[in-house]
Amino acid sequence: MTDYAKGLEGVIAAETRMSYIDGQKGILEYVGIPIGELASKGTFEETVFLLWNQRLPNRDELAEFARNMHAHTGLPAGMTNRLLALPMQAHPMHVMRTMISALSMHDEDPNNIELDAVRDKAMKILSRAPTIIAYFDRYRRGLPLIDPKPDLDFAHNFLYMLNGAEPTEAMARAFEICMITHADHGLNNSTFTARVIISTLSDIYSALTGAIGSLRGPLHGGANEGVMRMLWEIPTVDDVEPYILGKLERKEKVMGFGHRVYKAHDPRAAELKKLAGQLARDTGNEELYEKSTRIEQVMERAVGSRGIYANVDFYSATTYHCIGLKLDLFTPMFVLARLAGWSGHILEQLADNRLFRPKAAYVGPHDQPYTPIEQR
Ligand code: SDX
Repeated sequence: MTDYAKGLEGVIAAETRMSYIDGQKGILEYVGIPIGELASKGTFEETVFLLWNQRLPNRDELAEFARNMHAHTGLPAGMTNRLLALPMQAHPMHVMRTMISALSMHDEDPNNIELDAVRDKAMKILSRAPTIIAYFDRYRRGLPLIDPKPDLDFAHNFLYMLNGAEPTEAMARAFEICMITHADHGLNNSTFTARVIISTLSDIYSALTGAIGSLRGPLHGGANEGVMRMLWEIPTVDDVEPYILGKLERKEKVMGFGHRVYKAHDPRAAELKKLAGQLARDTGNEELYEKSTRIEQVMERAVGSRGIYANVDFYSATTYHCIGLKLDLFTPMFVLARLAGWSGHILEQLADNRLFRPKAAYVGPHDQPYTPIEQR
């Protein structure tokens, strides 16, 4: 058996100036700023600026950055018709993967990987992604499309396009905190995927398409959908303990728990737990939150000593549900936020590139004869 880091566990494969994670202490900082500070005081627009520029913007820079982001929320001509030709029953994650890829065909220079060009493309993709998912959801519900309003910020605009009415400040702020806490997270699988693809000097559309494919997986961003299904599957708060202990007994993974890096509490889960509690009370979903906190208690007692705690996906499920998002829109929300981090990593990779090409240990046979087909 070859001695190698399966799943690249513990292997440092890149340097970054965006997220700092201390898995033992449960620390996450974006360019040195603790995630709790950004979640409580920051906006998503300034978080994106921070990740892409390694500093917070001043007032004028933020106004210009936000104006630029909000100016590109409209889809290129032809994209809407392409979207409306998709099967209504398509999963929104497949729609995101397909339509972000399709945006490359409306870019007159899609393969340009000059840093300024990539930054411009990243901004346009990030701006258009909410429009794509809101348009698709309204289309599949048989509702008229709601065009983006350039005077609305990222959070307000998405909820406006989705629901046809501007959100309350509380709902918009809750959604924005979800976007901030999901924006970047070191070399997670989908970010690594984006860096691997761009390291061949491919294009940003291909790198982001690959990243979306990775994020859909239930071991990664797809877990938030799994958390919601679990919360619905458990009849009452009293049923939580036997349900969870039964899963652990059967060696089944409890969605929304555990992490390759965090062996202490995921600081994002703490931020989202506060949000979920507030929203649950505001929207009459207290039982959902009570089930969630009970699950957390049972898991903490059963596997906390092994460093298995709630991760970012656990309380984001209740939060998204209370905001009024349908279950299959949960992971696309993760895409909207992580497009910021993925794009930042694509820029970092291009600025100091080395093609990713690890090795595999060959464990098969040698010196085998070619057996003619008649003898097989
Ligand atoms: C995200 O990397 C990132 O940063 C990701 C992310 C980001 O921001 O990009 O943080 C977002 O993807 C969060 C994770 C979302 N996924 C889930 O919630 C799915 C459930 N979690 C597990 O599948 C698991 O914890 C992983 C995939 C997240 C991490 O898995 P590892 O590091 O490969 O650990 P492992 O599967 O080898 O587990 C080690 C042990 C095993 O027990 P043994 O076989 O040693 O007896 O811990 C157990 C596992 O069975 N375990 C769990 C568990 N997670 C780990 N047991 C029950 N429920 C769980 N959730």
